[in-house]
Amino acid sequence: MGWSAICWKARDVVQPFSPARRAKVGVLVSGRGSNLQALLDACVAPTYPAEIALVISNVPGVQALDRATAAGVPSQVIRHRDFPSRETFDAALDQALRAAGVDLVCLAGFMRLLSPGFVARWQGRMLNIHPSLLPSFTGLDTHRRALEAGVRLHGCTVHLVTPELDAGPILIQAAVPVLDQDDEDSLAARVLEQEHHAYPRALRLLAEGRIAVEGRRARICE
Ligand code: GRF
Repeated sequence: MGWSAICWKARDVVQPFSPARRAKVGVLVSGRGSNLQALLDACVAPTYPAEIALVISNVPGVQALDRATAAGVPSQVIRHRDFPSRETFDAALDQALRAAGVDLVCLAGFMRLLSPGFVARWQGRMLNIHPSLLPSFTGLDTHRRALEAGVRLHGCTVHLVTPELDAGPILIQAAVPVLDQDDEDSLAARVLEQEHHAYPRALRLLAEGRIAVEGRRARICE
């Protein structure tokens, strides 16, 4: 039995997104926005199956917002500090995404934990990029921790977002060697270069409806 047969027949398989048109994507950011830029650049190709419909930052004045403006993409600032709780902030995010007709959400350097309710609403339709080869080095300071641990391979992971932090089904990983002369900055730069290739590839898979999830495992349907 081929993967595609498994994708359709296995019990408990979730088909997260079935595209009938170019998927509308909302990107959540908090800072520099280089991964947002990689997604914006990918979306320029007419054959790419997604377009960025909205960029939301929880922090005003960040470079990611300038990148959205330069690309002619609508952006909004929704400051988490203006809300009394995580749930009310997340409800505002959800409302803005829905108002923009968003199908899929990409977290791209978004430095807020999301509430279980928000994650449940977008489960199977929300991606995150994390700067390590998960499940190693979840959380923050991944490059420093990779150097301290003495690993020879480091990298990045694009995964579906589930309630557990950095633990959702993995779509794409890219590895880079850790060099003897590496410091945190040089390692981060090499990983970031890979992130910019991996994220558009993963979004393409999701937007083409080619991801099926069985338990913790994502399968790519041909
Ligand atoms: C990236 O390293 C990404 O993996 C992590 O946060 C960083 C965001 O960088 N989640 P940028 O804002 O996309 O440049």
